[in-house]
Amino acid sequence: MPPENIAEVECNRDVCVVWEEMAEMHEMTAANLRSSYGGECMASVRYTVWASKAANEDLPNVERLFKATAHSEQTHAWNHFTQLGNVKGEAMVLAGAGFGVGKTVDHLEWAAGGEGFEIEEMYPAYILVAERQGEKGPMNSMMKALEAEKVHQELFRKAKAAVDAGGDFEDTPIHVCDLCGFTMHGDAPHECPVCGAKPEDFVTY
Ligand SMILES: [Fe+2]
Ligand SMILES: [Fe+2]
Repeated sequence: MPPENIAEVECNRDVCVVWEEMAEMHEMTAANLRSSYGGECMASVRYTVWASKAANEDLPNVERLFKATAHSEQTHAWNHFTQLGNVKGEAMVLAGAGFGVGKTVDHLEWAAGGEGFEIEEMYPAYILVAERQGEKGPMNSMMKALEAEKVHQELFRKAKAAVDAGGDFEDTPIHVCDLCGFTMHGDAPHECPVCGAKPEDFVTY
């Protein structure tokens, strides 16, 4: 756990956390958190590339969806990274998603599959380990990410069905909580149901 004489890690991009002494974390939770950090970074870049391919295919709403989810994944990566503080170690990244550039309809399928890996295997297992090891901060960071991934998978599946039918994703706005990455589709949020963030903390695509 982080030493008590430093500021608590906050999920806030304006806060620079200074670690005054070596932080401690159970090795298995730390390794899982590094793997999650790596997976989220990769997802963010992958979705950014796939957004640009959707734009090429004249699918502006799928482009928005990939941009919004890329932002959400970057938020997860940010939060996992700051949770790690100065805990050092090797990073082995488990990622259950497709690689490369194909057609947008394939990207949506691969994206839904990658989210499924996180929802069904990766995060539930990592959260259990963190809970068992009493690592509250990492556990919370991963639980928040898990909630967003469930929405991402649902939106990717909807978008895939729309593109399969020859259309584009719905043109309703997509809101991303800049603090925890939770993603909402449709009406503007009153607050984040996962972390309680205010409407001004959401970025709309
Ligand atoms: Fe996701
Ligand atoms: Fe949030």
